[in-house]
Amino acid sequence: MVESEGIAGIDQFDSPGKGRGLRVSRAYGVGELLFSCPAYSYVLSVNERGFICEQCFTRSDFSSSSFFFGHKKNWPMHKLECHAMCVFGENWCPSETVRLVARIIARLRHQRERSPSEKLLLLRDMEGHMDDMDNEKREMNEAHIAGLHHFYSKHLDFPDHQALLTLFSQIHCNGFTVEDEELSNLGLAVFPDIALLNHSCCPNVIVTYRGINAEVRAVQEIHPGQEIYTSYIDLLYPTEDRIERLRGVYYFSCDCKECKTKSMDMEKIKVRKLSDEIGQKEIRDMVRYAQNAMEDFRRLLEMCELSIDKMSPVFDDANIYVLHMMYQAMGICLFMENYDGAVRYGEKVMKPYTVLYPAFSLNIASMYLKMGRLYIALDRKSTGISALQKALAIMEVVHGKDHTYVTELKQEMRGE
Ligand SMILES: C[S@@+](CC[C@H](N)C(=O)[O-])C[C@H]1O[C@@H](n2cnc3c(N)ncnc32)[C@H](O)[C@@H]1O
Repeated sequence: MVESEGIAGIDQFDSPGKGRGLRVSRAYGVGELLFSCPAYSYVLSVNERGFICEQCFTRSDFSSSSFFFGHKKNWPMHKLECHAMCVFGENWCPSETVRLVARIIARLRHQRERSPSEKLLLLRDMEGHMDDMDNEKREMNEAHIAGLHHFYSKHLDFPDHQALLTLFSQIHCNGFTVEDEELSNLGLAVFPDIALLNHSCCPNVIVTYRGINAEVRAVQEIHPGQEIYTSYIDLLYPTEDRIERLRGVYYFSCDCKECKTKSMDMEKIKVRKLSDEIGQKEIRDMVRYAQNAMEDFRRLLEMCELSIDKMSPVFDDANIYVLHMMYQAMGICLFMENYDGAVRYGEKVMKPYTVLYPAFSLNIASMYLKMGRLYIALDRKSTGISALQKALAIMEVVHGKDHTYVTELKQEMRGE
C-alpha cells in the first residue's frame, strides 16, 4: 500500500502516556479548520431513514434525479444491506455497530489502496485495547459477532473470529456517533485519521460533521507544536463521572488540568447552601443516589419530576444531576408535545449550561437552537430570534461559517 502524503499542518507523534497523538506544526486561531476526514464507513440510524440521505447524510431532495445518480457509486454498500433486508423482512434488526462493521468488512475486501480517510492512520491500525477487555466487553463483542453472522452470512465473507473481535473492539473505542446541530443521533461512522486525536476535558478542538465528512476546528488558540485534543465525552459531568466513563470505554485516566484541579466540581455538584446542616456524607450519598437515578432513568416524566423533588432540598437547581433530570424532562415534554413544559425545563437548564460547559460547546449551541425554535413556535418571536442568534454565534465557530447548518439557520431566522 502506498505511503500517504499526510495532512498539511498536522503531524502524528508519540504523545507521552497517551500512545499516538496529533500536533500542529503551525498556529491555528479559534474557529479555524485544522483538517477534515471523509468517513471510511458509515451507517444511517434507522430512525432517520426517509429524513436524511443514506449516502451523504444530508437533508436532501430525495425526489431529484441528480440526487439518485449522484450516489450511484455507493451502490455496493446499498446492495449489501438491501439484499439482507429483503431476506429478513420485518425481522431485520442488526445493531448500528453490526451494520457498520458489515460495511467495513465489505470495503476492506476490495480495498487495494490507502483511502482518503487514512492519510495518517490505516483503519486496521486503530487502537483496539484487546488486552484490556473485561468479560462484559468480550461478551458484548461475541454477541455482535453472532448478530453479524445471523444477518450477513449469506452476503459477506467474514475474516476469522479473532479478526472480528479486533474489529469490534476497535469500533468500540474509535467509532463516532454522528450528530446534527441539535445533537440528534444521525448514525455511526469511523474516521481513521480523526481516531488519532487524544482526549482532554479542556479540548482545544471540536469535531463536527458536514454530510459524511468529519471536520476538526479550533475552539482555543493552538500554538505550533501543541497537541490537538478533542473531548470523547459530555463535559457537563464532574470529574468522578468523567473518569469512570473514560476508563470504562477508553481504558485510560485523564490527566488534564480539569481532572487534576477539579475546579468546576463544586459548581457542578452545587448544594442548596454550604452550611453545617448538609454534611459531606449527605452530599456523597446524594451524589450516589443521583448517579444511580441517571442509570435507571428512562422516559417517565413522573419519575423525573419525583427525582428533582427529592434532590431539591439538598441540591441547587444548577447542580448537574438536577440539570440532567431537567434536560431529560425537557426531552419528554417535547416528545409529548407539551411545549410550555419543555420551555420551562429548558430555561432552567440554559443558564447553568453557559457556566458549566466550555464557551464553544455543541451542547450550548443545541440548547439555544431548541429553545429558539420552541419560543418561535410559541409566538415569542423576538426571544426566539435572540436565542437563535446565540446558537449561530457558536455554530459559526464550531461548524464553520459556510456550513449548511449555519446557512439554513440564517434562512430560518429571516423567516425563509
Ligand atoms: C481514539 S484513540 C486515540 C489515539 C490513540 N492514542 C492511538 O494511539 O491510537 C483512544 C485511545 O487513546 C488513548 N488516549 C486518548 N486520550 C488519552 C489521554 N488523555 N490520556 C491517556 N490515554 C489517552 C487511550 O488509550 C484511548 O483508548
